[in-house]
Amino acid sequence: MAGFYRSSYVEDGETKYLATTQFEPIDCRRAFPSFDEPALKATFDISLIAKKSLTCLSNMDVKDTILLGDDKKKVVFNTTPVMSTYLVAFIVGELNYVENNDYRVPIRVYSTSGSEKLGVYSAEISAKTLAFFDKKFDIPYPLPKCDLVAIHDFAAGAMENYGLITFRTVEVLIDPKVADVNGLKRVTEVVMHELAHQWFGNLVTMDFWDGLWLNEGFATWMSWYACDALYPDWKVWQSYVTDDLQQALSLDGLRSSHPIEVPLKRANDVNQIFDSISYAKGSSLLKMISNWLGEETFVKGVSNYLKKHKWGNTKTRDLWESLSDVSGKDVNTIMDIWTKNVGYPLVTVKELGNNEIEVTQNRFLTTGDVKEEEDQLIYPVFLTIKTSKGVDTSAVLDVRTKKFKLDTDDDFFKINADQACIYRTVYESDRWIKLGKAGIEGKLSVEDKAGLVADAASLSTSGFLSTSSLLNLTQSWANETNDVVWSELTSNIGSIKEAFKFEGAEFTEALQSFSIDLVHQKLTELGHEFSDSDSFGEQRLKKLLFGTAVSSNHPKYVQICKDLFEKFVGGDKSVLNSNIRGIVFNCAAKTGDEATFEKLFDIYQNPSSAEEKVSALIALGAFRDEKILDKVLDLLFQFDVVKKQDTYKPMISMRTNTIGVEKLWAWYTTNYEKLIEAHPPQLSMFGTLTKLSVAGFAKKEQKEKVVAFFEGKDLAYFDKSLAQALDVVTSKISWVERDSDSILSWLSTNGYTKSKL
Ligand code: BES
Ligand code: ZN
Repeated sequence: MAGFYRSSYVEDGETKYLATTQFEPIDCRRAFPSFDEPALKATFDISLIAKKSLTCLSNMDVKDTILLGDDKKKVVFNTTPVMSTYLVAFIVGELNYVENNDYRVPIRVYSTSGSEKLGVYSAEISAKTLAFFDKKFDIPYPLPKCDLVAIHDFAAGAMENYGLITFRTVEVLIDPKVADVNGLKRVTEVVMHELAHQWFGNLVTMDFWDGLWLNEGFATWMSWYACDALYPDWKVWQSYVTDDLQQALSLDGLRSSHPIEVPLKRANDVNQIFDSISYAKGSSLLKMISNWLGEETFVKGVSNYLKKHKWGNTKTRDLWESLSDVSGKDVNTIMDIWTKNVGYPLVTVKELGNNEIEVTQNRFLTTGDVKEEEDQLIYPVFLTIKTSKGVDTSAVLDVRTKKFKLDTDDDFFKINADQACIYRTVYESDRWIKLGKAGIEGKLSVEDKAGLVADAASLSTSGFLSTSSLLNLTQSWANETNDVVWSELTSNIGSIKEAFKFEGAEFTEALQSFSIDLVHQKLTELGHEFSDSDSFGEQRLKKLLFGTAVSSNHPKYVQICKDLFEKFVGGDKSVLNSNIRGIVFNCAAKTGDEATFEKLFDIYQNPSSAEEKVSALIALGAFRDEKILDKVLDLLFQFDVVKKQDTYKPMISMRTNTIGVEKLWAWYTTNYEKLIEAHPPQLSMFGTLTKLSVAGFAKKEQKEKVVAFFEGKDLAYFDKSLAQALDVVTSKISWVERDSDSILSWLSTNGYTKSKL
């Protein structure tokens, strides 16, 4: 799946192929000799010789088609504008398309035969998104056409080749009428992200790969900017706090993280930085700046930056300059520290009485063991203090410790208003209780609430807060009505379950009993039936609550899943709303036997949609029976059954249970050489597989086993992934050692025991 490669698919029982390219970051050189570096831009004259009946595509539109003898043709494309090699693309295959003409240039979505209609949605939103970016950046999309192509074998999710964007099938083809809400949101995000790259990355390109964040951070921010404008009711900036921001803070809370701008020693290392730092931390930094300068000023500055550097290459400094010019603020000095250094601050708030607080900053590490030499930096931290009187944006903590006066008359305040900045905040224990009440009284925004629980969860993992404070806060918000807040509440309980999964049945069942109690009332109120009149948020909330009840083994909802599954495999596909398809499949597997495996595998082999196929594949990892898991793992080397692009899918569910996690590790170590051969570590997939095989562990002896296995092995190209997985394990080990007694006693004091089920 790198360079110029072949992708296979089956049509009417016949295996067919198409040829396609994936050059980013450094695989253009596999296809043709080139000065393969982002700053060495050139124009490209591309011609393809192929069988007459095949569709030939490239970055530009067709200039000429010359018939050659022997049933062949030569398709000559117009010269491209000046561009980087990693954005060149060409495709040959039997392809059909749908076309949308709502925009200035034609937009086509190509797919293999039979799926054309599923491209209509992406074509439509592309037309709207391109028009939106034209206007906001004040620079028209410069190419004569824009093609989006669904590819059956694809390493990443999508790729922004200039004028010829490629996708994994499920990331671009979708039927919006029957799609799962999160699936629809994902397709929208991916399409908008790749279209944003047509300006950020394609028109203006980072000077070198150490500036990757300029591409990916921007495309991420811009995808949500466009999504928010086109779908205001999706409220994507709210879910940003639970998704992108938390991804950034989680990875960057590890010792093995890296600065946004990272020096690269070897070309092959660049694949390792396509991670949550370049994407999510990069984008969160932009969000912080846009919040500071105001969105309009920010976008104006960005437009100036694009105009000034179009067709060229930039360094981070160029961006800061344009933003400084437009805002009159010293953006460079403030922001440099954020891109050049690893990590972020933990802000500790001490209350001095009389509306005075003392605020201190230190480096935050999830393992809770920061050393003095790791804690030397002082960030300019925007405190943005929220009180009942409004938000004080002037308070900046630019020294280690400083006192601030609060402008409040009702004892309410919260730091990091709307969670727009990159840090975590720890309060005194009374304040957590008061903030819990403030949430109920409506004094906190959705972003505030989601951020507060996320901070509480992370702080309990790392030992800055006792996990019982998190549980108290969670319990006190059981009447919450917002899906984003709920998603943070339930995902945190999920993290506790995950980290403490080896602590025995008593522990697990008490936690399950708590989860069930937490969601029970809201779930009963809302039900798990979906209707066309449900809003986006309502669908997400129902899905979340139902999923939590099921994964906590609530007997009633488990039975509902089993019944739905049987009806579904019995042929009544309409019983299963796609929002709960994954939940039902997983539950069937978790409680299922050989016969269930056969049924799920049959769904996988004969799915009615690509999304259904993926759901079934993920669920295959959820069985609890060792023999079945062996079968599933065997499938991962049968590449005609499970494509290499999907190897990791069953591993996602396998690593979350005690049997699966051990099976997975045994399989990984036994097949290590074979795995390396199938997934060369230079490509990012091997790092993903390693992470998934290691990060499920939570015990000291498990970690030692992993470390011993890799001793003396060549870790080139996946050393970062491995170190990050081990850091995750380390933080779980200390969390469990520190808090398991107190969690258990909290649960039993609150009446949650095994017997309550
Ligand atoms: N430029 C990347 C594709 C890419 C990823 C190339 C990794 C080489 C290595 C593309 O724009 C991208 O970011 N794709 C994301 C999806 C996006 C919506 C976050 C992906 O593939 O996951
Ligand atoms: Zn991207």
